[in-house]
Parts: sequence; structure tokens; C-alpha cells
Amino acid sequence: MQRVFSGIQPSGIPTLGNYLGAIRNWVALQAAHECLYCVVDLHAITTWQDPATLQRQTRELAAAIIACGVDPDRHILFHQSAVPAHVRLAWIFNCVARIGWLNRMTQFKDKAGKDRENASAGLYVYPDLMAADILAYHATRVPVGDDQRQHLELANDIAQKFNHDYESAFFPMIEPLIMPEAARVMSLRDGTKKMSKSDPSDQSRINLSDDTDAIVAKIRKAKTDAEPLPSEPQGLEGRAEARNLVGIYAALAGTTPASVLAEYGGQGFAGFKIALAELTVTKLAPIAAETKRLLAEPGHIDRVLFAGAARAEAIADPIVAEAERLVGFLQRPAK
Ligand code: TYM
Repeated sequence: MQRVFSGIQPSGIPTLGNYLGAIRNWVALQAAHECLYCVVDLHAITTWQDPATLQRQTRELAAAIIACGVDPDRHILFHQSAVPAHVRLAWIFNCVARIGWLNRMTQFKDKAGKDRENASAGLYVYPDLMAADILAYHATRVPVGDDQRQHLELANDIAQKFNHDYESAFFPMIEPLIMPEAARVMSLRDGTKKMSKSDPSDQSRINLSDDTDAIVAKIRKAKTDAEPLPSEPQGLEGRAEARNLVGIYAALAGTTPASVLAEYGGQGFAGFKIALAELTVTKLAPIAAETKRLLAEPGHIDRVLFAGAARAEAIADPIVAEAERLVGFLQRPAK
């Protein structure tokens, strides 16, 4: 059975983009794979996080992931900082990856912005840690949104260079699983920007914790253009906002943009937005309610996460110990 690994940062409330681009697929993969899902708190602190908020968001994110349908009994859900194997392997990968490779990472350029000199060193080597997350488990299938594609290509470059440098075939190649529908959910205020939990405008995104009123208001105010909806997907060319809303509808309804347009083509946005808001509320309200229920039980989420971490450690520890042996570190003597 192939092993699946994926992660999500507790750097804000998870969005509809996280759900449609990633978590929804995490849930689906559970049927036929052994899955590890990780709340990546080490990645989150590559940009400053308020400590109390980070703790709260780590728990809230774990609860939301369970509420979406990840089963922490049959699979493994844990927080990254509880499994030191990630950091041990990440250091080795910092020494395998080349600065030139990291310089090409578009997400670093976006996140660091104009003030590159002031970005944390952690933000720069972030993709090395991400490669370690996956390869510490010899995971080969990684469900992500399109924005992570370049990081996964780098992870394969790192695996290949490690194997070459240490004359081994130790690390497997990773296959990104990027679902074409909703691989890039865009901002509700600007169809050329990704919907993101760190966007300063709350109006730009739908949070998995939003109530009905907030969802309806955000979709009503979502940016559109003056034309009616086209009857075919080709008509969405050059209409980023319309394409985004149709894509969200299709992904939530489990259908295609073509069949959404077969129904709504020729109509204005007002009626379509009402239907989209209703569909979104129907899908997200049970997730928000279940998240709240899980968080109401004190200590429950922490117990789930630490139990997951113990199981994750049991898989990762021997793999990372073998990588350390290949590198030439002394091995702990048998007792
Ligand atoms: P993060 O926390 O930014 O996002 C978590 C997942 O959600 C996807 N995603 C989206 N998909 C579609 N449309 C959007 N607007 C959108 N926004 C986010 C992301 O592609 C991602 O799949 N570096 C990763 C976390 C990570 C990881 C890993 C992932 C750390 N280690 C190992 C896979 C494997 C990140 O920052 O994701």
C-alpha cells in the first residue's frame, strides 16, 4: 500500500481553498492508502506567530481536519513539532539542497516580498523541511493544491541528490496528487490572487468556521464582471472572477464547470451567487458544527495529536536513523 503524507500550516483559520484544494482529497485517499496528515507548526513559525494564537490555531485546525472527515484512529493525524525526526532529516536536506535551487522558489519570493533581507532563514529553507516531512516516512503520494507543485519538484531533486551523494537508492520519488478542479481557489476580491488564510482581508476568503451570514455576505459581495455567465467553459477565458466562482461551485457540487454553465449560462450573477452561497453553507455548516463540538471537550484534541505523533515517530525514526547512518553519523550502540 502506498503511503500518503500531507501537511497544512496552523497560521490562520483554514479556508475553502484549503478544503477544496487539499483536505477534501485527504479524506478521499483514506479508503485505499495509509495516510499521515500533519499540522505543520514548525512551518508556521517561519513567519512570526503570536504564541497563544499558534496554540489555539493548532488545535482548531486539527479539529477542523477531523470534522472534514479525516479519521485519526485509522490514519495518523499529528503536529509536526512533536516528531523530532522531521527536524533531524531537514538539517541533512539543508546540506543536500543547493542555494540555487532555493533561490528559484516562487513562494519564497512572494512571501518575502521586497524585504528579502529581513525574511527569516527558516522561510528560506522551508522547502527542505517540507521534503523531510514527506521523505521521513518514505511517503510517495502527496495531495496538495497547485501552489505546492514547485516544492514537491524540489523534494524530488533533494531525494535524487541524496541518493546520488550517498550511493544509495534510499529515498523514493514523490508523486504530487493535484486535483484539477479547485487546485487553485482564488480570492473573492481579486481573481488573480490565491485565496489564502494569511490575506489581510477577511472578505477575500471563506473560512471553514464562517457562519451562514458571513458566507452569504462574502459571496454576495464577491467581485464579478458585468457580463452574464457564459454557456461554455471557453467563455470564462479572461474572466478570472467568474471562472473562480464557477470552479468553486463545480468542486463543491462534485461536478464540472461545463455542467454548472449548462445550468446557469446566460444568467446574471445575482441568482448564481444565491445558489453558490446555499451550496457552500450546506457543505460547510456541518464541518463548522463538528469542529465546535470537538473543541468543546478539553484536552481531547491534544490527546489525539500526541497519540498520532507517537505512531508517526515509530515510522519515521528508523527511516531517519538509516539516513543518518548513510551520511556517516555514529549509530547508538545496542543496549
Ligand atoms: P498551506 O498551509 O499553505 O496549505 C495547505 C494545503 O491547502 C492547499 N491550498 C490551496 N489549494 C487550492 N486553492 C487555494 N487557494 C489553496 N490555498 C492552500 C495547499 O496547496 C496545501 O496543499 N507547505 C505547505 C504545508 C506542508 C506540506 C508538507 C504539504 C508542509 N509540509 C508536506 C505537503 C507535504 C503549506 O504551506 O500549505
